[in-house]
Amino acid sequence: MAWTAHSIIQNGKAIPFEEASIHPLAVGVAYGAAVFEGIRAYMNPATGRLSVFRLEEHLARLDQGMKFMRFDDPPSRDVMRQGVLDSIRVNEPDGDCYIRLQVHIESRGTQVTTGKVGWVCAAIPRERNAKRESGLAACVSSWTRIADNTMPARIKATANYHAGRIATLQAKTDGYDMPILLTRDGKVSETAAACLFLVRDGVVITPTRDSDILESVTRDTVLRLAAENGFPVEERRADRTELYVADEVFLCGTGQELSPITTVDRLPVANGKPGPITLQLQAAYEAVVRGTTDAHAAWRTPV
Ligand SMILES: Cc1ncc(COP(=O)(O)O)c(C=O)c1O
Repeated sequence: MAWTAHSIIQNGKAIPFEEASIHPLAVGVAYGAAVFEGIRAYMNPATGRLSVFRLEEHLARLDQGMKFMRFDDPPSRDVMRQGVLDSIRVNEPDGDCYIRLQVHIESRGTQVTTGKVGWVCAAIPRERNAKRESGLAACVSSWTRIADNTMPARIKATANYHAGRIATLQAKTDGYDMPILLTRDGKVSETAAACLFLVRDGVVITPTRDSDILESVTRDTVLRLAAENGFPVEERRADRTELYVADEVFLCGTGQELSPITTVDRLPVANGKPGPITLQLQAAYEAVVRGTTDAHAAWRTPV
C-alpha cells in the first residue's frame, strides 16, 4: 500500500488526520447514535484515474439512515458528496481508497438527543481480503442476525455492528474466517459485513430483502451483473442446509468485495475450490468497479 492518509474532512473542513475529535460523552459515542457508509474508489489501470463506485446509491442509503435516526438538520446530499470527493482529493492517493463517511451526534445528552449533528469523511488505503482468491472458511454462527424489529437492519447504524463484531470474534476464536448469520427463524441472512449468495444448478440465489439483511449496494450490483452474464437469479428465502449442498457460496460487500466461501462448518462447498460462476462474477465486478469496461459508466463518479 503506497499512500497514507494525512488529512480527514470533519464537518466540511480538511484537518490533519490525527486531529479529528469527538467528546467521549458525545451521544454518537455514548449511545451509538451514528450512521455511516463504507465506500470504495478504484483506480483505472490504463488512465490512473480514480472513480467512486456507486456513490449516489451510498448517499441515498445514508439519507435514509439519517432520517431513521431522526437527526436534527442532517447534512445535505450535496454536502456529503463533496465531503467524499474532498476526502480523496486532499490526500492525493496513488491507488484505491476505502472511504468512511460517518454522521453522528457530536453533542452530549441522553439516549434521545437528536442534535447537534456532526460528520467525518476519511479516505484511507485498505488491503483487499487476502482470501478473496483462495476462498474463506465460514461457520454458521450461534449468534443470530439482528432482527429488523429490534435494530434497524436496513440502516447502516454503527450500533448494529456490535452484533457482527461478537459473531466474528467468536468465529475467529473457533478457527473460521467469518460467521454466517441466520435470521431468528433459522433462514440464511448474511455475514457480519457482507451479503451472501449461493449457486445451485446454475441459479444465482440470494436471501430476500426481508431476511434482515442490509440492503447492500454490492448485492444489487451482483444481481445485475449475474443477469447480464446470462445466469438466472433468484431472490428468495434460503435454508441453512442449502449452504452445505450448494455448488458455490460467495459473499459480497463494498469492503469485502466479491469473495468465494469454500467451506461452511468445515464441510467443503462442492470440491472446496472457488466455483466458476463466482470467479466469472468476481471478474465482472472487478471490471465494472475499475472501469475497464464501458458498461455502467453511471456507476463510476470521477474523482
Ligand atoms: C452488515 C452488512 N451487510 C452487508 C454489507 C454490504 O453492503 P454494501 O454492499 O452496500 O457495502 C455491509 C457493508 O459493507 C454490511 O456491513
